[in-house]
Amino acid sequence: MFWSFFFFFFFSYTQGHQQPEILLSLSAVESTASLQRVRLSPGEKFLAATVKSDHSEEASCVILKLGDNPAVTHIQRNVFSFEWARDEVLFYTSQSNLRSLHVYCLTFDKGYPETSLVYEEQDSRFFVELWCSKDKKFITINCNSKRNSEVHLINCFCPSRTPVLVQPRTADLIYHVDHRNEELYILANIGPNSEYQLLKTAVSSPSIENWRLIYSPGQSVKLVDMELFDQHCVILARTPQCFYLDCFPLGNVSHSSRIMLPPWACAVEAASELHLKGDVFRFKLSSPVEPPKDFLYSPVKRQLFSEEGFTKKVQTNCTIMHTDARSQDGTLVPMTVFHMGSDRQLTDRPLLVHVYGAYGMDLDMAFKPESRLLLDSGWILAYCHVRGGGELGLAWHAAGCLTKKKNGLDDLKACIVQLFKLGLSQPSLTALTASSAGGVLAGAFCNENPELIRAVVLRAPFLDVLHSMQDPSLALTIEEQEEWGDPAMNSSHRDYIASYCPFKNLRPQTYPSIFITAYEEDQRVPLQSLWSYINRLKDVVATYEEVNGKAGSSSTIILDSYPGIGHSGPTDLKKSIQESARHLAFLYRELGIST
Ligand SMILES: *[C@@H]1O[C@H](CO)[C@@H](O)[C@H](O)[C@H]1NC(C)=O
Ligand SMILES: *[C@@H]1O[C@H](CO)[C@@H](O)[C@H](O)[C@H]1NC(C)=O
Ligand SMILES: *[C@@H]1O[C@H](CO)[C@@H](O)[C@H](O)[C@H]1NC(C)=O
Repeated sequence: MFWSFFFFFFFSYTQGHQQPEILLSLSAVESTASLQRVRLSPGEKFLAATVKSDHSEEASCVILKLGDNPAVTHIQRNVFSFEWARDEVLFYTSQSNLRSLHVYCLTFDKGYPETSLVYEEQDSRFFVELWCSKDKKFITINCNSKRNSEVHLINCFCPSRTPVLVQPRTADLIYHVDHRNEELYILANIGPNSEYQLLKTAVSSPSIENWRLIYSPGQSVKLVDMELFDQHCVILARTPQCFYLDCFPLGNVSHSSRIMLPPWACAVEAASELHLKGDVFRFKLSSPVEPPKDFLYSPVKRQLFSEEGFTKKVQTNCTIMHTDARSQDGTLVPMTVFHMGSDRQLTDRPLLVHVYGAYGMDLDMAFKPESRLLLDSGWILAYCHVRGGGELGLAWHAAGCLTKKKNGLDDLKACIVQLFKLGLSQPSLTALTASSAGGVLAGAFCNENPELIRAVVLRAPFLDVLHSMQDPSLALTIEEQEEWGDPAMNSSHRDYIASYCPFKNLRPQTYPSIFITAYEEDQRVPLQSLWSYINRLKDVVATYEEVNGKAGSSSTIILDSYPGIGHSGPTDLKKSIQESARHLAFLYRELGIST
């Protein structure tokens, strides 16, 4: 959220200039703009950057001609991804209504911009995105649905040639491609239990029957990323407890070595390509309570270097606990728990539980200043890695999507009950928080287990799965069928979704206090759906109190909506601090904690 502030201007340092030179000021484009992707053309004649405002998900691509008098030469609206093939040739995908289905080529060699269509995706469950191979020889056209992919290669030296198909889309095959020394390196979900493996093949024979296995992660390990360098390949992998790097020379894959990353690291972010030169892997490590720190790994020296010295112990008094809870069907669900060591009884401490559990994505554990603030104020922070997320690989996602969605709900309940069993907090001091699709599990939990928590904070939550997934006019309905099902056409999907959908299952009973942050320009979770949820919630709570003769609710229900902001929330520092402050004020009041 905060990174954009460090990049408000592009600077250029050239010989003879002591002062950096401003190339582009974002405020000239939009008042609340942030940068998405930045790419220098191969001969450094042009620079392209996508700039997005807070109120829309559609970004603009700004193209600057560099040289003695740098100037904006072109602005292309509604661009999702882009890459340079040559100095005068830019490929991009257009985005409209949250979909990206077309690849265009934009050329400048005639002195004016000229656009041509290169690829059109016919299946609207797919989303099309461009990436440049690490060696800059190919641009990959990546067509991905939630369970399928297909990659086409644009040769950067012959950009006008028809893109070459790597492997036609096949049922349940997901793959990603990079290139080095005339060979394609492919991450594909064709390992044991359909997990990712690394394979390779010659560019001249790209299809699946030629793929040869070169690396397979172990059991219950998630392969997070692969980076190709001049002579080496570095694999980033994780278990629920830790991250590590496996590195091997491209010429001798059996000569591999493993480096464990520091145990406090919960999130890894690879450094932007602008800075990458030679055989060095640059990345940042962080945790919810630890700001990002720079790390370097040299595959040649097989050594890890850090900003502050690798051995420095980071948070002396912060306890990080990796534990698990046994879910209803016996599955062990990992949790990460943070608290400060102190004499005060842990049972009497407030607890904030985090959950997500969708799309095979890991629960967000990047640094948040407000999490650190809570930790320092004595709170316990718990992160539940429930099924539907990606922490234990692709199978972990499959075990919590479609008609297995309720596994995630069982997992969340098991985690919260287990925290209490471990002597961490108690229901009257416990709050739950989730964003976006995490709202499904959080909302369902409020219907099923209101007695286990006191308060809930939700940001742009998805709460009405049943109606949304039956409304084909909403942008994501088709694309999301592989995650939630198709309630419009399949009655067993409809019944299953109806059994957990948070909105559908609101009923007269007690509820924890609920605070919802909504963004008025949200294209994914329409404001109207949150109004409907809040109004229905107030109705059922009032009905319950009337019947039981308990006038004057003990639970607070708030919808806090922000104008001019889209699904991902504000990028403006002041606005995001304001938003967090309201969450904290709500939590302190509802849990009855004095500051
Ligand atoms: C490849 O690595 C293995 C294991 O370290 C080593 O024994 C072997 O000699 C290496 N082969 C070559 C060709 O370098
Ligand atoms: C850690 O806790 C001990 C004992 O409570 C205290 O003396 C020390 O100052 C704390 N250290 C830090 C870095 O907070
Ligand atoms: C509904 O979906 C299930 C699998 O999720 C499938 O087995 C079933 O055949 C589908 N029914 C219809 C009517 O399409």
